[in-house]
Amino acid sequence: MSRVYVFDHPLIQHKLTFIRDKNTGTKEFRELVNEVATLMAYEITRDLPLEDVVIDTPVAQCKARVISGKKVGLIPILRAGLGMVDGILDLIPAAKVGHVGLYRDPETLQPVEYYVKLPTDIEERDLIVIDPMLATGGSASAAISALKQRGAKNLKLMCLVAAPEGIKVIQDDHPDVDIYVAAVDEKLNDHGYIVPGLGDAGDRLFGTK
Ligand code: PRP
Ligand code: URA
Repeated sequence: MSRVYVFDHPLIQHKLTFIRDKNTGTKEFRELVNEVATLMAYEITRDLPLEDVVIDTPVAQCKARVISGKKVGLIPILRAGLGMVDGILDLIPAAKVGHVGLYRDPETLQPVEYYVKLPTDIEERDLIVIDPMLATGGSASAAISALKQRGAKNLKLMCLVAAPEGIKVIQDDHPDVDIYVAAVDEKLNDHGYIVPGLGDAGDRLFGTK
């Protein structure tokens, strides 16, 4: 079964509070989402393998360590996932970025796929699927299925806020995919919004309504 990691680092929790606050405007919201994404990327890359190299410091030769040629792919779910990409690329600049476009039908809450563009070698990459919100789980589950259909094998899911309902859907549909979040909230409301959540992540990121 997929494991759930909640990043309770004080900086992440502090910034998440301002992300949740309805009085936080678009500019600050966008900056904070990227900052939290950077901090989450730091935690999520903890298990990247290292290899030994030999280098010369100004003083002596020494054995040191670098990340060993692991290929990473970031897969934001459009639109709101875009808000976390730059923050992660700050730490993993060599990562390739693929896009999965999905929107949630407001009536049925079912995900509708409208765009998929991926790096050609996704089967070789450690992929991080990115979306600020894991609500019913329909969008993330459909995105992960779309990636697996195209050959993806190693997948992680990174979200800011998750509902218990969404976590269960991922665990049922994709038990091989671990979930990394900054918070697990109480529940979904009748419109499929996370409570307390942060509202509509896409609208708050891009200033739309
Ligand atoms: C939001 C969010 C997730 C999805 C989560 O996207 O960014 O992709 O809803 O809901 P779910 O877990 O119930 O599927 P939305 O459909 O609002 O599209 P947008 O990112 O283009 O605003
Ligand atoms: N999508 C959002 O942007 N927010 C929610 O609370 C649920 C789905």
